[in-house]
Amino acid sequence: ATDETLYRPSVHFTPATGFMNDPNGLLHDGRYWHLYYQYDPFAPYAGQVHWGHAVSTDLMHWEDRPIALDMTEAGEAFTGSAVLDAHDSSGLFPAGTGGIVVLFTRATAKAQTQNLAWSSDGGTSFTEYAGNPVLDVGSNSFRDPKVVFHRETGRWIMVVALARQHRIIFYASPDLLHWTEISRFGPAGLPGVDYECPNLVELPVEGGGTRWVLFVSINPGAPQGGSATQYFVGTFDGTRFVPDEPVVTLIDFAKDFYALQFYENVPSGDPVAIGWMGNWQYCEETPTRSWRGVMSLPRRMRLRRDAASRLRVVQAPEGLEALRGPEIEATVGRLEAGHGVELPLPANAALDIVLSVEVDPRPSGLPPGDKGRSGRFIIGFANANDDLLSIGFDAFSGQVWLDREGLHGFSQPFFTESFSVAVTPDTRKVSFRIVLDACSVELFLNDGMDVGTALIFPTAALDRLRMETSGAGATVRDLHIYPLARAMN
Ligand code: FRU
Repeated sequence: ATDETLYRPSVHFTPATGFMNDPNGLLHDGRYWHLYYQYDPFAPYAGQVHWGHAVSTDLMHWEDRPIALDMTEAGEAFTGSAVLDAHDSSGLFPAGTGGIVVLFTRATAKAQTQNLAWSSDGGTSFTEYAGNPVLDVGSNSFRDPKVVFHRETGRWIMVVALARQHRIIFYASPDLLHWTEISRFGPAGLPGVDYECPNLVELPVEGGGTRWVLFVSINPGAPQGGSATQYFVGTFDGTRFVPDEPVVTLIDFAKDFYALQFYENVPSGDPVAIGWMGNWQYCEETPTRSWRGVMSLPRRMRLRRDAASRLRVVQAPEGLEALRGPEIEATVGRLEAGHGVELPLPANAALDIVLSVEVDPRPSGLPPGDKGRSGRFIIGFANANDDLLSIGFDAFSGQVWLDREGLHGFSQPFFTESFSVAVTPDTRKVSFRIVLDACSVELFLNDGMDVGTALIFPTAALDRLRMETSGAGATVRDLHIYPLARAMN
């Protein structure tokens, strides 16, 4: 009962039973948003990997479909991507038609190869190409092909990880069947043990222009522990990706946003991605019994210049506003130093909370060691069981934290508790958007400039919201609390 009532999200996709990890084959086919995913249907553990499948018309309400790719004698069906082969460049479809083509990894202990399958029924069932594998480099750590169409050169481009060697290989193809290596990237950035799930995408820059971004997931060995996704901003000329600077940035400052994948063929043209809310360090031990694995909200991605003029990926939930119900009445306004307020929250609804805060200036002339060194604004989600999820802003040092230590539903050595990020070196202001949904929290700071994604396991619903200050007063502005209509399960 706990799994369902307490931990099962209502606006995030989860599998009814079994184990889910990476999003796969993200494609809009003109009618549906497809969400395929790494899936063991038999047990809530990573094991016999198939491709699960769900479809949606709004990225929020998902409908389960039959398993799309099985584990076969050729191996497990590991991560891969989908494209719409609308003009039958593969020659696999009946004359005058096209359809969905997926490229994915078949994995055994000995070999990882890239394989192709196609669907003539809108992505429900797939036929495997008789000439598989389409790529075999004699490696057992060669996986996760992501394919995009490159308009300027009129060819398909695949990025795929030579995992243990920390390399991304770029291939090109006219027909999705025959692939030629065109360049390599890496080792670069954070190596971790394996490179996984590369994604290459052209993102719009706020204010004009575009830049190419290469995302590379690493596991294990992330700075926060376990798995994390990094990205490089640069140029791609159809052959080679060149980063602007030898600088790498992590897409998330917490621990549960991995293996992100971008949608192909988005009708609006806005880049949208989904990540797996999990971390290989503890994803098979989290306290649900019959199912494990949560997808992040779909997120619209862009680039924005930061204070140092570096381009950073910014993220915002895509489509969530449509689920907002009538606002919950709440006014906070001005809080003097050391003061707080508490509001009741509905126990059984996901919440979308936005606010911005400005902390008072540091008092002048304080002796060293005085409390005036920190001026904090703290948001606490709590319950009668003494669980506490704490999110806070230390305005004098310009940092935000996300702390799940006070939640008592799960403990495991790698389920580390507290994360932080530097946000505002020069102001005492920050804006928050917090999406709280059962076992998940997604924290978007300063319009998506920094994002923290975390699994959370309280022992009862978090039905109280506290806001308080320490060390300095603060003013809360533009506070809105929306319950979200249940979209699934
Ligand atoms: C990433 C990953 C991929 C692999 C898949 C297996 O989380 O390890 O590299 O294809 O999961 O399920």
